[in-house]
Order: sequence, then C-alpha cells, then structure tokens
Amino acid sequence: MTKQKFTGGNAALALGVCYYPEHWPEDDWADDAAQMVALGLRFVRIGEFAWSRLEPREGVFDFDWLDRAIHTLAGAGLQVILCTPTATPPKWLIDAHPDILPVDPHHGHTRGFGSRRHYDFSSPQFLKEAQRISAVLARRYGDDSRIAGWQTDNELCCHDTTHSASPQARSAFQGWCKNHYGEIERLNAAWGNVFWSMEYPSFDSIELPFATVTEPNPAHQLAYRRFASEQVIHFHDSCIDAMRPHVQGQWITHNFIPMKDTQVDCFALARPLDFVSYDSYPLGRSEFLLGREEPELAQRYMRTGHPDYTAYYLDQCRGLKRQGFWIMEQQPGPVNWAPSNPRPAEGMVTLWTLEAIAHGADVVSYFRWRQAAFAQEQMHAGLLRPDRSRSDAWAEIETVVKVLDALAPLPLPQPTAQVALVVDVSAQWVTEIEKQGQHAEAQRVAFQFYRCLRQLDITVDIVSADADLAGYALVMVPSLPIVRPALLESLADTSAAVLFGPRCGAKTEEFQIPPQRAPGALQTLVDIRVNSVETLRPDVAEGFDYQGNTFLSRLWCEDISVGNASVEMRYQSTRAGLVRNNRCLYLATLTDDAFLLQLFKNLLGEAGISWQAMPDDVRCIRRGEVGFAFNYGARPAPLTGLADKTFLWGSEEIPGHGVSIWREPGTGS
Ligand code: GAL
Repeated sequence: MTKQKFTGGNAALALGVCYYPEHWPEDDWADDAAQMVALGLRFVRIGEFAWSRLEPREGVFDFDWLDRAIHTLAGAGLQVILCTPTATPPKWLIDAHPDILPVDPHHGHTRGFGSRRHYDFSSPQFLKEAQRISAVLARRYGDDSRIAGWQTDNELCCHDTTHSASPQARSAFQGWCKNHYGEIERLNAAWGNVFWSMEYPSFDSIELPFATVTEPNPAHQLAYRRFASEQVIHFHDSCIDAMRPHVQGQWITHNFIPMKDTQVDCFALARPLDFVSYDSYPLGRSEFLLGREEPELAQRYMRTGHPDYTAYYLDQCRGLKRQGFWIMEQQPGPVNWAPSNPRPAEGMVTLWTLEAIAHGADVVSYFRWRQAAFAQEQMHAGLLRPDRSRSDAWAEIETVVKVLDALAPLPLPQPTAQVALVVDVSAQWVTEIEKQGQHAEAQRVAFQFYRCLRQLDITVDIVSADADLAGYALVMVPSLPIVRPALLESLADTSAAVLFGPRCGAKTEEFQIPPQRAPGALQTLVDIRVNSVETLRPDVAEGFDYQGNTFLSRLWCEDISVGNASVEMRYQSTRAGLVRNNRCLYLATLTDDAFLLQLFKNLLGEAGISWQAMPDDVRCIRRGEVGFAFNYGARPAPLTGLADKTFLWGSEEIPGHGVSIWREPGTGS
C-alpha cells in the first residue's frame, strides 16, 4: 500500500485560459496574447482538438502554425500548456481505420465521426495512433522551455465513452476474462451463470453485458466495468509512456471530469500524472445531480451551484493524488450543455475561482478565451465575446487577480483534514448495476455525508479505499458494498472512529451476498447481520426518535440482527438503526440531513474535532494560516468569531455571492 501524505509549502497561485489559435485569424493572436497578459493570466492551454491541423494527412505534419502560435503566446510572456490531440482523431484516420469508432452499448450503433471522443479504448489501432501522435509532439516540444507542461487527451471518458460494444471490446473483454479467471468453469461459478442457464462453454463465447432482454447478470456487468476501467487506464498509461522519454523538465497532467462520470478508478488513472487537473462547471453539474431529485435545491442554487457541490469535486481532486491540483477549465458564464444554462450570479466566477484555490488548486484556468461563433459551442461563454468585446467574466477575473496579489506573499499549504471520506468507483458500479432503490446511488450517499460535514465546517479529505487512514480522527465510509482487505488493514492501523453507511460490505468481489451475509468482512468490526432490505419511494420518509428529536428514515432500510454490539438508535419502531462496537458504527438506513448532522456532531465531539454549524449558504476552509469564507446566498452574511483576524479580502460581513479571506494574527510575514 502506498502511504502518501499531502504536500504543503508555498503555492505559486496563477490563472490561465484555454485558447484555440486554430479557430482565429492569425492577425488576432498577438493582441489576444497581449490582452491575456494584461488581464493577469500566466498560462495558456492549446492544441487539445487540433489533430486535423497538426497532421492533415497521414504522416504529413504541419507544425508551422503551432510554432508561430507558441512563439506569439510565449513572446507575450505566457507559459504554454500543450495538449495531445487524441480526443479528436481526424477524418483520414477514421476512414483508414473505421474500427477505431466505438459502438454505443445501449443502442448498438457505431458512434460516428463528426464530434469528438469517437474512439474505442479497446481499438489496438487507435492505441498505436494515439501513442504515435503523443510521441511526435513530445519529441518536438518536450524540451522546449516555452512549454510548461502537457495535458493528455481531453476529459477522458466524457460523453459516456468508457463503455463500447464493439467487436474489439468484446474480444478484449474475453481476453481479460481468461486472464482473470483462467478456467471457464471458474468464471461460470464466480458469476453464478447457472441462474438462468447463462453458462458459457468457453471464453471466446462470452458476450458483452448489453442488449439483453432483461437485466444482464450483475457479476458480468461488474466484470465488464472493471475491464473497461482498466482499458482506459492502460490507454492513458501507454500514451504517457510514449511521451515521458522525450519530456524534459515539463509536467504531465490530465483534465478530469467527476469520478462518477468517468466510470473509471480515477485514483489509478491519476497515478502516472505529475498532478491532477479538473474541469469545473458548477452550474451544469449541479443541475445534473440535483435537478430531478432535489428540484427545490436546484432552483435555489440555479445561478451559483449548490454550496457543497463544487467543493465536493475539488476535494475529490485533492484526494486523487493527495496533493495540490489545477483547474484546467473553469466555467466563465453560461455553458451550452445542461438541460438549462443560466447565467452565473454576479460574483460567482470570482467566488468559484477562489474556492478552488481555497480547496487546494494552485492554478485556475478559464474555459475559454473567446466565445466560438461557429460549430458546436456557440452558446458557451468565453472571456471575450465572438466579436472580441469583453464578457461579464472579465471584471470578475480582474477581482481575482487583486486577491491573488494579496495572497502572494503567504505560504498556502494544502488544507488539512481530520475527517476522511472513503470512496471507491466499485461502489458506484454496484449501486448503478443493482439499483434496488433508484435513489440510493453511492455518489448521492457520499455527497449527502459530505455536505453534512461541510455544514458543520469540517474539512474533508476524500480518499480511496486503500488509502492510509492513520492520521485521521474520524473516517466515514458512506457507501462501499465491496470491502477489500486493504481497507480492513488501514482501519486496523488507525485509532479513528469509523462510521459505515448502509449497504457497506453487502457484496463480495464477484457481486454475491457474502456467505455470512452483509456486512460481510465488516462483521469483524461491527457485530451485526443484515436480514433483509427494503427500499422506499423517494417521496416517502418515516419518522424515528433519536436523542429526543424526530428524524426521517428514507430510501434504503435494513433489518439487522445485532450480536455483541450496542444499539444507539431504533427506527421503524423496533429495528436497530445505528449500532456500535467500540469505535466502529454502522448505520442501517439512509436518513434526512438533520439526523446525519446530529450524529456527526456527536461523533465529532467524541473524536475531539471542533465544529460549528454554518449558515445554509456560507462555507469556510483554511489553507494554513489563511481562512476563506464563501457566501453562496444573495444576501450579505455575517461571520462570527473573527474579530482578532486580519482581513486580506472582504470583512466580517461577506457580501452576497462574495468572499472574505483572513489570516491568523501575528503569523508569517
Ligand atoms: C468541457 C470540455 C471543453 C468544452 C467545455 C464546454 O467538458 O473539456 O472542451 O467542451 O466542456 O463547457
């Protein structure tokens, strides 16, 4: 097990922007670059979709325009981030090798040329091409001091591209199964294929788990998702391997989307990178999470994003490598891809930028410099409008620059947390595959735990299920049906209190009910057995009493037998709802936020972690001696207990959609 600690130290905070020189007349480049510098931007990212211009025909390269663009941008004082263009294989390549295209697993059609990400992670041909173009670029620019570093590809897995039902994916999956299980009988037994006469006579007869009459075998689906995750990681690792020998003194990063959307083990995906980057689109993403299921929250935070939602992903990014990260794309105005695309409330572009920095980002780069007047994203804001006039974001970035100046002299170590939230992509897979209660998906449960912790002003590290947990006082495992030995080991090595949410330990590696029933291996920590599970309609909630108050049980309710453990809460009249063995607790039902808040206050108190109830719209976080407060509400919000602090920005009253920043008195320079 790798035991990494968060790195600290001085952070060189900076801003950047995503730019497409190939989209604009060359005559504009110098002025664009000059304006970027005048605005206070230091980095400019280019090239991630430019394959057709870099290699217009097979083996025929045109670097002249790129050289001139780099010359202009760097000449103006900008540091360039160069991307590998593998997200957009050009038409000549697809025509020469149509089997690069992926097949839609849900509808069975080939996903064609004409947008982006039209490649199959299982295409050996594409892997070769991607390595080739990555190496060509790295060879040419890998020791160019004007290039600060590299972004690989673009948002791997975006647009639901992890899974493919192509013949190549099928044969690669068959090979994966053979490697994994060795004998077909072992696979049949592991998957329980006898159930509906689903037994396979040989590895080469294995189907992909799509387009069946009713649900495919969950174990088969889980195996496919593991395989698909490994394919993405292999593809990405191979591209980096092709670059590394040529890259001298430059870093390599990748711009991640939320872990849930990748369907990939992002902790593993991040391993070969120097640091992780994230593309932050608070409004569009909030709408997807809350829009259907918590419409009142989605409405209330329509122009800001939910106060904890952006931070949840920021903390996820900090956790991927347990170090600082970048925002490679920051939403600057309305986007074009959510069901509705409101304008951010005035102040939010500043707020989101500073919030990213507060949660551990070193650099925030905006997407994009100039709004496109053509092709797919015409309705997406940029820092300039298509006619090069300044958009609303401009003034907000000017404000950010002033704040960064105020922060520049200060050491900004990464935030430190006493509370860890354990997540794993397998939890998302299991809860998507076996829906049972459609609203009890792992990421929603994890987000509910996270937002309740943040409402109590707790800094949270979001860590993988094989992370070192030794430094934490409290560990939360909201939803983890498959528990691996590594977690049990690190729990044994910590003295932290541990809270498991419902469904933890409910499945084996092969998606079966453990022989000793749920929570399986966790029974060594909490002496209970799950007898049965019911799930409730999302519009039903049932009251229960806890410490003199009534709270609500909802969505997922287990009936458990309790062995040698104490019952701290009962629900549904008599059922054990919260059970404890020494420092380990198990919660047998999903609940409302109010119950979690009450429970968390108790656990934090026991663990000696101080907390304070935050106003609905205000969130705080600290980096070393510097404290940040963000107001997601439209009305000014007072901060209390900061009378002796020196304010670096704002004051004890945070304006609506505003930010206050202070530092402890008498520290630092
Ligand atoms: C990102 C993507 C960009 C652009 C942007 C629009 O997901 O990386 O290329 O499409 O969304 O919001």
